[in-house]
Order: sequence, then C-alpha cells, then structure tokens
Amino acid sequence: MCGIVGYVGNRDSQKILIEGLKKLEYRGYDSAGVAVFTEKGLEVRKAKGRLAVLEERLNEKPLVGTIGIGHTRWATHGKPSDVNSHPHTDSSLKISVVHNGIIENFLQLKEELIAAGHTFVSETDTEVISHLIASLYKGDIVKAVQQAVKRMRGAYAIAVLSEFEPDKLVAVRLASPLIVGLGRGENFIGSDIPAILEHTRDVFILSDGEMAVLTRDGVELMTVEGNPIRKEVFRVDWDIATAEKAGYDHFMQKEIHEQPQAYRDTMRGRIDENGGLVKLPEIPLSPEELRAFSRIHIVACGTAFHAGMVGKHTIERLARIPVEIDIASEYRYRDPIIDRDTLVIAVSQSGETADTLAALREAKRRGAKVLAITNVVGSSVAREADYVIPTWAGPEIAVASTKAYTSQLIVFYLLGLYLAQSLGTQDEAFIREVTGAMRRLPEQVEEVLKQAGRIKRIAEDISRHQNLFFIGRGFDYAVALEGSLKLKEISYIHSEAYAAGELKHGTLALIEEGVPVIALATQDALFEKTVSNIIEVKARGAYVFGIANEGDSELAKSVDEVLHIPRTLPLLTPALSVIPLQLLAYYASLARGNDVDKPRNLAKSVTVE
Ligand code: F6R
Repeated sequence: MCGIVGYVGNRDSQKILIEGLKKLEYRGYDSAGVAVFTEKGLEVRKAKGRLAVLEERLNEKPLVGTIGIGHTRWATHGKPSDVNSHPHTDSSLKISVVHNGIIENFLQLKEELIAAGHTFVSETDTEVISHLIASLYKGDIVKAVQQAVKRMRGAYAIAVLSEFEPDKLVAVRLASPLIVGLGRGENFIGSDIPAILEHTRDVFILSDGEMAVLTRDGVELMTVEGNPIRKEVFRVDWDIATAEKAGYDHFMQKEIHEQPQAYRDTMRGRIDENGGLVKLPEIPLSPEELRAFSRIHIVACGTAFHAGMVGKHTIERLARIPVEIDIASEYRYRDPIIDRDTLVIAVSQSGETADTLAALREAKRRGAKVLAITNVVGSSVAREADYVIPTWAGPEIAVASTKAYTSQLIVFYLLGLYLAQSLGTQDEAFIREVTGAMRRLPEQVEEVLKQAGRIKRIAEDISRHQNLFFIGRGFDYAVALEGSLKLKEISYIHSEAYAAGELKHGTLALIEEGVPVIALATQDALFEKTVSNIIEVKARGAYVFGIANEGDSELAKSVDEVLHIPRTLPLLTPALSVIPLQLLAYYASLARGNDVDKPRNLAKSVTVE
C-alpha cells in the first residue's frame, strides 16, 4: 500500500505533489519521491525516510515545472532505500513511473528486458514497468502503456510521465485504488481522495482495467484495451479527516473493513493459480533443508502472539513438526533449548517491538535460523532475520491491531501448507482443498462484516458491564484470547479468555447473574465439549453470546444469542471468527466514548523492553 499523486496544470507542481503526499503518508512512509518535467527534461528526486527528508532535498534543489508525479512508499519488493524509492525510470531516463501494488511476473519480465539490453538499478518490481514501457514506445505513450499493461500480472495502480510527451500523465488501475481529480486548467491523480481534496471535490473513481490520460485541459477515460468510457463525476462532500479514513469514523473501523483486501494481497502470488499448491520463494530452502528443522519456536508479543498460537496449531497439524510458542519478553530469560535444527519464527506487525527483537537476537546467538513474519519490510526484525515473509496488510494506523493479525494468520496457513507440501505430510488433494477454501475467505469476511449492525447492538449491551469472559477450545481458544485483548485495550472493560474446559478449575467462581460470556463454538470436533462448558456457565446465571458456523442450529438451544459465521474448514475459522470480536471491541469502545484509535497508556510500536 503506497501513495500516488500526479499533477498537470499551470502551477508549481512540486508544491502540489508534496502537499498531496503529506495527505497520503498514512498509506506508507518509508521513502518518497517526485518526478517533474523541468526545462532540463524529466528530473527525479527521491529519498529514503519520511517525506520531510525529500522535502529538504527539494528545498536545496527545487524542481521547477507544471507537470509531475509523486510517491510515498511502503516497501514491498526491495528494502527502503534511495534507489528503491519511486519514481523509477528506464535506462534513458525518459519515462518515469510511480506504482502502488505488486507486479507478480516482474522477475520474468526483468530477465527478458535485461536480455534486450536494459540495465536495472533497483530491487523493485516497479522499475520493470518503466523499462517495459520504454521498450514498447513507438511514438505514442498511451499505446505503450496499454501494451505494457497487457504483459503485467498482478494488482497495481500506476502513473506515468514521459519526456517524449511531457504534457500528458497516463494512469492505470488494476486492483489498487486510483482517482482522478478534475480542476480548471489543471487535473490531478491520487491514490485516495485526501491527496487532492484541497484542490477539487470533483473526481472520477477509476475501476479495475480502466485508464485515464490527463492533460492541462482535460481527462480522457478508456479501458486498458483503448475503448473510450464515460463515467459519472463523483462529488466529494467529506472533510479531510473523514477522507483520510475513506469515510469511516475511525482508522480501526477502516482497517477492519480492509481485511478482505489484506487477505487477497497476502495470498496473491503465493497460491499457484492452476495447481492450487503454495509457493513461498521467501524461504529458499530445499525439502531436505526444511526436513532438518526438528522443532519450531514462535516468539511474539500481544496480538502477534495470539496469531502465533493459531500458527502453532496450524503447523503442528499440517506439517507435524513440534512447535513451542513463547511470549517474546519471556523467551530469552528461560534459557530456551535452541540449536541449529531450530527454526525460530518472530511475528511482529511493526517489526520494531523491542522484546521480539531481543528474542530474535538471542535465537540467532544460539545458532537458530530465524524467519520473520512482519508487516514492515524495512523493519529491524525483517533486516535481522534470515528469511522474511511479509504480510501485505498495508500500514496499520489504529493502535489495536486487526488487519495485521489476520494477515499473520494467512501467512501461517500458507507456511503450514508449504511445509506440509515440502515434507510430504499431507497429500496434494488436501492442500488444494485448503487453498481453495482460503481463496473464499475474503468474500466470507465480507459476509461477517454485514452483521456489523447487530454486533453494535450486542456491544452496546456489553459496554455496560465491568467484567466479561471469552471461552473456546482449540483454535477457538486462541481466537478468544485475541477477542479478549481487543476488548480490554480499547473499551477498558476487564475481560478474560479461558480454554472452555479450564473454567471449572477456578474461574467458574467468578460467574454470577448477568455476567456476559462470549462462547466460540466453531470447531466441530470439540463442539459438544464446548456446549457442556456453556451449560456450566449458564447454570450460574451467565448471559451467553455464542459464535457458531452457519447452518449450525444446535448452539442456539444452549445460549442467549448466536452470531453465525460462514462455514469454512475448521483450521481456517480463526480468520472469520475473530472479525465479530474485533467489531465487538470497536463498538464497545465507541459506546463508552473512548478514543478508539489511540487507547490510553498504549503505543502502536513498543520499542522498550
Ligand atoms: C494489540 C496490539 C499489540 C501488538 C504488540 C506487538 O492490538 O497491537 O498487542 O500486537 O505490541 O506488536 P508488533 O506486532 O508490532 O510486534
């Protein structure tokens, strides 16, 4: 998730691009850059770091011109660095491109272009686009872009500025957001409305497979095949704060609703389109080398730890490798048994959590190989690990983690399947069944999100209580822990999550008349056992909200209210059952009038031990 801006008009483009990028920094902020057509031709300035670093460079050497493109980056292919920052140009420096998304076949295209004499300078997939357009340019930039797009697979939005036709901006959208802002004698491109809201409220929202050609005097819309299209102008009536949240009231709410896309992005290119098997080029190890790992340790904190719990069950079930899981701050002080045959998986959204980093370093010091699962490609955890599997959730702004957690689950499913596939612990038919079910998850999440209204009402009831319990068994227990943490951190209601069978060993004493209990019962094999535990709490007066699979009418007989989630494989239910719990926490926090995105006493990135 990066941010794109573009401007063509009569004003100083550098200023407009920088202002636009500032509004898009929430989409990514590890590096930034602009390309402007000046009297010297196409000129590019870019810099690793926050936008302020680029601004300083531009202040020293301004780019004077009235057409340009800009980009704020959230690294995917290639670490954050000056050279990997956008815009990218072709070898002759005539074509510049900014890009948001992923070009899946970039390696293949890169090889072809290198063979044809192109020289690459960065590690990015984006650079391929500028070389590809240059190789196809025969006097018409729009046609060259259309032909390039035909060769590119993936999900992207791009904007192109070329020295050959320096009065035009060409923009294309395929599965990454892109809008065109309409001004008088000037026009704009943006990944999102905030980028252009200061200048115009009239926009075209591009759909997949559409492109726009912008000049000072007008905007031409067409399909990527070149067929002209007509579109309604969308009049934006949001203020800037609402626009940054894409119309949602809070970043957390927006991020909860972004989960279907985060699932798709995290799976993209990692499940073979035809065969249904898993590809993880991020782990360049042979089956023999993988077989040499006799045990796995997962280390993480908070929500990432809860994702790790799902990961432990997933890997053990699929790949039959013993997995231990540790809270990162405990790991290194317990003198863990680690050797060269141990694979340590460090899970961290930010990649900067001090405890996780310390655990990672301890594991490496003792000779283990470390695999990082992180949402920030250029983070310390990513840099120090031997292998990195990024979650493609995009920047997470709300302190309470939602889409990063579920993207971590997706990575654990992929990893478990990949290990099973490589070690031969599951047959291919089963792996295909699971990847097929994974592909359906984004739509199923959308189904759950449709129940937001009902969950809001339940949350309002819950918000009047001071104590609450979550119970579940197996995967449901792991999700219960996450649901409980989410509720605590933003609603400030005390809650505890218990393995359903454990209540009777002490905690049952706390259940009294009216205490809400959220009971997850999505695991068919454990269903009856969980129901017995539900009956135990009901007998003590608890008010029970159940979460069950669609079509399961049994649970309704034992609880006060049931929420149904679409049916998937038991292994994958955490990716659905956590969604109502995230919404529950969100609405409970709202009902209590709390600052949802910035809960008291907490920080997004915890860089102290
Ligand atoms: C809770 C939450 C935290 C983080 C934890 C680890 O919503 O976000 O519990 O999960 O602080 O952070 P990362 O994943 O950045 O290492």
